[in-house]
Amino acid sequence: MKMKILIIYDSNTGYTEKMAKAIAEGAASVKGTTVDVKKIGERFPLNMIAEADGVLFGSPCIYSDVTNGVKDFLEHVESYIKLGKMNLKGKKAGVFGTYGYDGAWIFEERFKVRVVQLGFDVKSKTLQLVDTSIESIPNTLDKAKTWGKEFVNSLK
Ligand SMILES: Cc1cc2nc3c(=O)[nH]c(=O)nc-3n(C[C@H](O)[C@H](O)[C@H](O)COP(=O)(O)O)c2cc1C
Repeated sequence: MKMKILIIYDSNTGYTEKMAKAIAEGAASVKGTTVDVKKIGERFPLNMIAEADGVLFGSPCIYSDVTNGVKDFLEHVESYIKLGKMNLKGKKAGVFGTYGYDGAWIFEERFKVRVVQLGFDVKSKTLQLVDTSIESIPNTLDKAKTWGKEFVNSLK
């Protein structure tokens, strides 16, 4: 079965970026899956979202919320939806992120609410990794690979 996955993430110091790339690798390991990875700030046509079978959003936890870049991006998508230019109702999505010390559960809740508000169906469990674990614990990113793979398999 052919699947198109889009991963949209933000990252300031590179941890969430490492995670996004590992998730992409895991997703791409499922036969027939194509994966696009876009960093917030990169130019890409918004209809890539509408055309994807599943979208994964990633952000670092900044003051227990997503980055301003992710907020702006999601608001931008929302304005397209309000103008009737896009309909994302029921499209499968997942959220992931990295954090440093605390507040990851508030971050997760806020992130999910923002994505669900756009019409996305977020069923999969959020994946969170601690920045230092990515840096210093071997195989931490294997969790991200598995998560990416499981997300694709959940779409079948
Ligand atoms: C301004 C700022 C605010 C942060 N706020 C939180 C926070 O509220 N809770 C937390 O656990 N980590 C917090 N962190 C730590 C980051 O979430 C963590 O280092 C993350 O992995 C950075 O991701 P990145 O390398 O993709 O930018 C904060 C970091 C910065 C720079």
